[in-house]
Amino acid sequence: MNGRKNASSRGELRVKYVPLAATHLDEVLAIERAAFTTPWRVEDFRNLIENPDAINLAAVESSGRVVGYSCAWRVVECAELGNLAVLPERRGRGVARGLLDTTLKACRRKRVEVLFLEVRESNERAVELYERYGFSRIGLRRAYYSDPVEDALIMKLII
Ligand SMILES: CC(C)(COP(=O)(O)OP(=O)(O)OC[C@H]1O[C@@H](n2cnc3c(N)ncnc32)[C@H](O)[C@@H]1OP(=O)(O)O)[C@@H](O)C(=O)NCCC(=O)NCCS
Repeated sequence: MNGRKNASSRGELRVKYVPLAATHLDEVLAIERAAFTTPWRVEDFRNLIENPDAINLAAVESSGRVVGYSCAWRVVECAELGNLAVLPERRGRGVARGLLDTTLKACRRKRVEVLFLEVRESNERAVELYERYGFSRIGLRRAYYSDPVEDALIMKLII
């Protein structure tokens, strides 16, 4: 049995998807540092929390623990999904799907028509997740990422 089947047999995690707030940031930064080699800084999250055109979410367990987050921002009729991550020990239980579903609902309310994102080519989990949502690959940004240097896939979803 592979890790994914193990994970899904634990079932969907019951969490609330709430607007990301400054009080979530200590936990968000811990997840961010575990997830990425070049993590966002606290200022990056603070700027988005203050941006009225951003759609920032935290996935919060009933205990109050933050287990995932996502950040997107609107520019006219387009939006960019700039960040999405889940606490390593809570992966494979639907949290990323919940964050994406909630982000897409908010995008529709804001009349966003197209959602873009970049993802490391080698990030199979994330690419599979996005393709399941109907994102298509529209191009490559050469050497977009560092540590290690890697191309980004550019993906697009018509909402
Ligand atoms: C990518 C990531 C956000 C997925 O979060 P998650 O909560 O584990 O994902 P979910 O449980 O909601 O799974 C959603 C889908 O992702 C894909 N997926 C999840 N785990 C997978 C795995 N082990 N193998 C392959 N695909 C997987 C599947 O398509 C899955 O759909 P399914 O549950 O119907 O099979 C998480 O692995 C993560 O935080 N990774 C590090 C940060 C990152 O890479 N973020 C994306 C940057 S663009």
